[in-house]
Amino acid sequence: MTLKCLYVLVAIIYYTSLVIAQSTTTLLKDNQILSNSVAAGSYNYYYFSIPATGHVFGKRAFSNIFLSSSTCSQPIPPSTFKDAIPSVDMYISLSKDNPLPGPDNGITVTDGLHGLSTWTSPDSISEIWVAVGATALPNTWTGNWTYEIGVSTSQIMHPVFINEKRNMSTPFLIMEDTDRTNALFTSNPFTGSPPNSTILITANMPKELQYSLCAAKLHDLPNYTVNTSITARGPWNLPRHQFMVSNLTQDTLYSAYLVQSVGTTLGLTTPVSLSTKIDANCRIIYDLPFCNQVAYSVPTNPDTFSTGNIWDIATQYDTQALEKFQPFGTALSQFNCDTTQYSLVRNCTDCYRDYKTWLCAVTIPRCTDSTTSGDLSQNTDDLPTSPALRDISVGASRNPWVDEIMKPGEWTELLPCIDLCYHVVQSCPPFLQFYCPGGDLATVQYGYWQNGSALANGTLYHFDVNNPTCNRMGVNTSLLTISGSSHLHVHAGFIILSVITVIVLNV
Ligand SMILES: *[C@@H]1O[C@H](CO)[C@@H](O)[C@H](O)[C@H]1NC(C)=O
Ligand SMILES: *[C@@H]1O[C@H](CO)[C@@H](O)[C@H](O)[C@H]1NC(C)=O
Ligand SMILES: *[C@@H]1O[C@H](CO)[C@@H](O)[C@H](O)[C@H]1NC(C)=O
Ligand SMILES: *[C@@H]1O[C@H](CO)[C@@H](O)[C@H](O)[C@H]1NC(C)=O
Ligand SMILES: *[C@@H]1O[C@H](CO)[C@@H](O)[C@H](O)[C@H]1NC(C)=O
Ligand SMILES: *[C@@H]1O[C@H](CO)[C@@H](O)[C@H](O)[C@H]1NC(C)=O
Ligand SMILES: *[C@@H]1O[C@H](CO)[C@@H](O)[C@H](O)[C@H]1NC(C)=O
Ligand SMILES: *[C@@H]1O[C@H](CO)[C@@H](O)[C@H](O)[C@H]1NC(C)=O
Ligand SMILES: *[C@@H]1O[C@H](CO)[C@@H](O)[C@H](O)[C@H]1NC(C)=O
Ligand SMILES: *[C@@H]1O[C@H](CO)[C@@H](O)[C@H](O)[C@H]1NC(C)=O
Repeated sequence: MTLKCLYVLVAIIYYTSLVIAQSTTTLLKDNQILSNSVAAGSYNYYYFSIPATGHVFGKRAFSNIFLSSSTCSQPIPPSTFKDAIPSVDMYISLSKDNPLPGPDNGITVTDGLHGLSTWTSPDSISEIWVAVGATALPNTWTGNWTYEIGVSTSQIMHPVFINEKRNMSTPFLIMEDTDRTNALFTSNPFTGSPPNSTILITANMPKELQYSLCAAKLHDLPNYTVNTSITARGPWNLPRHQFMVSNLTQDTLYSAYLVQSVGTTLGLTTPVSLSTKIDANCRIIYDLPFCNQVAYSVPTNPDTFSTGNIWDIATQYDTQALEKFQPFGTALSQFNCDTTQYSLVRNCTDCYRDYKTWLCAVTIPRCTDSTTSGDLSQNTDDLPTSPALRDISVGASRNPWVDEIMKPGEWTELLPCIDLCYHVVQSCPPFLQFYCPGGDLATVQYGYWQNGSALANGTLYHFDVNNPTCNRMGVNTSLLTISGSSHLHVHAGFIILSVITVIVLNV
């Protein structure tokens, strides 16, 4: 408070003729973030002037002023109120004749991004007067808004990373999979030294404040652990951060953010929503030496779920996959790859990679909740977007090893994307006689990559890389092009891993 009074005093000395007695104007400093609160129907006033170093010599031009405010918390509405809670807005004046801007006298900057307002000055401006204000509310509401305001001549002090196309130049977060108490994430790829980034897991984030870091920090869960490491998994073949989040609660909805330093401040990504699983027999494994694209839940025994070591489960799955790969490795080595060209666009390197990806996908099946989306499944519904699920009864896993060793009981498989099979056909020499099933059999053994939303039983489901409709094994989504017919009503039966058998017999 004393500091504030000092600022006001300074302001009065400089602008004696302008300051209105009852209002206090706080001076903002370059690269500073201030926290404050504002009551309904009232305003907080600020002033910022570009420091001398911000003047560009020889011209009447200045650095831009980057102004932002981020709402941290909101007043509590009466329980009958169901709409969006009104936002905190900024009003800006560029003239010392108007030091107390408002809705009728100033530039209005509304909350443009769920908890965040930003404004950048033209380069002809060297000082600004700002009001942060909130609409008046009925007295059935309680509490005030809290917010942060930040100003800088070099960067937005509340950056957000919006990167729907997931290009490498902007941070993003991908949710690989969850099990009952864990969730695995990866970041954007990076070159050079790893950026300073971390993950934030929130619960019950207000929808009006989705892009506010200070709000996310207030909703950060108290008891989770994060094991951060680096992986080169995925289509980029470049290092990425990997975050294994543990100690979550089963069957719970969360939002996750990647938080990364930008200059002197911190930015956050678009939130990724996730829910922990219900079924106890799915367990996340990752960092397998041979099947290095595996980073998802696999079927395991529910009784060993809470105590079982994931690295032991991972090693057992990886070892059996490698054993099943050996006959193929032998067969391919008998083919003279260096001198025999069998395709203008593919060679043995592609064949090895695509066969390995396919084999890992079929021998290390992906496990999910049977109840994920009710009856939403590519085999049984008519919706344009739905996951390729298959309920596996006791002892009926397609890879018998899973039942013998992992003993998962009943479980649900998220089927491999059918493209993984076609990639082998395209990449491998014809003498290997690899084939993919067609027709009804295809939809029992494989799924189709679909993005978009589906409304089922009153719930809207979104499908994308964070909630896939089939297991893509880290393959570039633009290579997942085969679309399925949603009108094939096939009920899953018992299908063995027939293609592996064919390969083995052909050797
Ligand atoms: C809200 O702000 C008003 C005015 O500044 C203050 O009197 C009141 O105590 C604040 N309420 C809360 C809950 O902080
Ligand atoms: C990457 O994404 C960011 C944010 O969406 C965008 O500003 C940038 O232009 C994109 N870069 C490329 C090379 O597409
Ligand atoms: C990384 O960011 C944290 C705050 O999130 C900060 O405390 C730490 O000093 C930063 N480290 C580096 C190397 O920048
Ligand atoms: C996990 O969460 C529980 C409470 O939900 C807490 O008691 C425990 O300390 C947490 N464990 C770790 C390792 O953080
Ligand atoms: C989180 O764990 C700590 C001990 O590690 C415990 O004191 C606290 O109550 C836990 N909080 C919740 C919400 O479980
Ligand atoms: C953390 O992750 C690394 C890399 O995946 C792994 O080697 C290590 O065992 C993990 N630590 C724990 C405590 O799980
Ligand atoms: C995926 O493929 C598309 C089209 O070929 C390409 O533009 C993109 O860079 C690829 N992405 C990755 C991560 O390799
Ligand atoms: C296969 O082709 C790629 C380029 O497409 C090349 O880098 C690789 O060395 C080739 N492998 C063999 C075994 O010829
Ligand atoms: C649809 O929702 C209702 C109520 O939530 C539930 O009882 C019913 O089983 C659901 N139907 C399907 C097909 O999931
Ligand atoms: C699904 O993907 C296609 C092709 O990449 C794209 O054109 C379309 O906009 C996407 N649909 C949604 C809802 O994301």
